[in-house]
Amino acid sequence: MNRTWLEIIFPASLALLVCTIGMLLLTMMGVLEVPLTEDAGAVSTSPSPVALADSAASAQGITNPEIAAGDALFKSNCAQCHAADEVVVGPALAGISRRRPEKWVVAWVKNSSKLVASGDEYAVRIFNQYQKQQMPSFQLTDEEIRQILLYIDDNAPVSNTTSTGKTVSLQAVYCQ
Ligand code: HEC
Repeated sequence: MNRTWLEIIFPASLALLVCTIGMLLLTMMGVLEVPLTEDAGAVSTSPSPVALADSAASAQGITNPEIAAGDALFKSNCAQCHAADEVVVGPALAGISRRRPEKWVVAWVKNSSKLVASGDEYAVRIFNQYQKQQMPSFQLTDEEIRQILLYIDDNAPVSNTTSTGKTVSLQAVYCQ
């Protein structure tokens, strides 16, 4: 009776010992990562590859290059008069792609007074609403204006804090 018990327990504990030593060796060689360090590292190290890939946009969690281009175009051309969610000089632009077709926005940005002069109902109304203050004409391409719209759509529906929070937690999930 005693002997059979030993016969089972001894090889089992020997196997366990070999396993543990093996794991330890692998860990020391860096082949296996200890779960504890992986958890702790996920938060602090994961944003860096993203930040390296797209440092300008990463602060806002932007990864799409078209949106990043729209972000830059918006900041250099439109931000002095427009914000996504508040009236600056011109109206808040959040939801503009739902209010107006892309074609309209392209025509408006290229030459808003031409659109007003053509009698376009919406253009005339918004022009009057903003004290007949003329928005400057921009020599941007259709593609650039589309990128600005992509940026507004990406930026407007959620506040900056929420989208940043989301991105950070997503990164943490992906990198675990
Ligand atoms: C000098 C200030 C100024 C700048 C710069 C400016 N806008 Fe405007 N924008 C306005 C004003 C004012 C209006 C309101 C209509 C009017 O008075 O002509 C307006 C209206 C608009 C509208 C219509 C908004 C709505 O709710 O229907 C869009 C779209 C728009 N601007 C896009 C842009 C984009 C895109 C840029 C950058 C490429 C830009 N604007 C740059 C002043 C500006």
